[in-house]
Amino acid sequence: MKFFIDTADINEIKQAMEMGLIDGVTTNPTLVSKTGRPFLEVAKEILETVPGPVSLEVVSLDTQGMVDEARQLAKLGDNVVIKIPMTTEGLRAVKILSAEGIKTNVTLVFSPLQALLAAKAGATYVSPFVGRLDDIGHEGMELIAQIVQIYDNYGFETEIIVASIRHPQHVLQAALLGADIATIPFKVIKQLAKHPLTDIGIERFLEDWAKVPDKDQIF
Ligand code: E4P
Repeated sequence: MKFFIDTADINEIKQAMEMGLIDGVTTNPTLVSKTGRPFLEVAKEILETVPGPVSLEVVSLDTQGMVDEARQLAKLGDNVVIKIPMTTEGLRAVKILSAEGIKTNVTLVFSPLQALLAAKAGATYVSPFVGRLDDIGHEGMELIAQIVQIYDNYGFETEIIVASIRHPQHVLQAALLGADIATIPFKVIKQLAKHPLTDIGIERFLEDWAKVPDKDQIF
C-alpha cells in the first residue's frame, strides 16, 4: 500500500519524507491557500522535493480550460498528476489528457458510479472522499469497498486513493479493503506510529536498564 501526504505545506512534506513513509503528495486549492504562498512557487518546491507523484488541481470548470491548465502544469515535472473534478466536463478533460500521456486524478468522488466513470475515462487515479461522507452520516468506507469490487470485476488499472482521511481507523480500513493508496494528513501520519503501550514499554525498559550493573563495559 502506498502512502501519499495530503498537504501543500513543504515543512510537513519534508518531515514525512524523513520518516521514509511517503510515496507521493496530494494538494488541493484549500491546502495551497493555507500556505499563504503563490501556487506555482509551492508546486515547484514540492515537485523538486518529492520524487513520487504530486497531484496539482485545476480550477477551470470547462473542459478546454482544464486541459489548458493541465498542459501548463504538466510541464513542471515528470511527476505531475493533474487533479480534475468529477464532472462531465472533467471526464472529457481526463479522456483528452490520458491520450496525451498526462496523468490524472479524478477528485471529489462520492459514489461508486462516479468512480466507474473516472476509470472508463482513463483516469490514472480516483479520489473517493471518505471523511466528507462520514461527516454527513454516510459510511465512507462502504464506498471504498464498492469501488475496489467494481475495479476488480473489470480489471480497471485506475488506482484508488482513499482521500479525506480523518483518523488512523480510515487508514486501517483502507488497507484491509486493499485500496492502492491512502492520502493522509500529516497529523494522522504521526498518529499511526503511536501506541500508549509502546511508550510505557520504552519507559519500563529504560527504568530496568538503569539497574543493570557495569553498562559502560558494553559501549
Ligand atoms: C484529496 O486529495 C483531498 O485533498 C483531501 O483528502 C480532502 O480532504 P478534506 O475532506 O479533509 O478536505
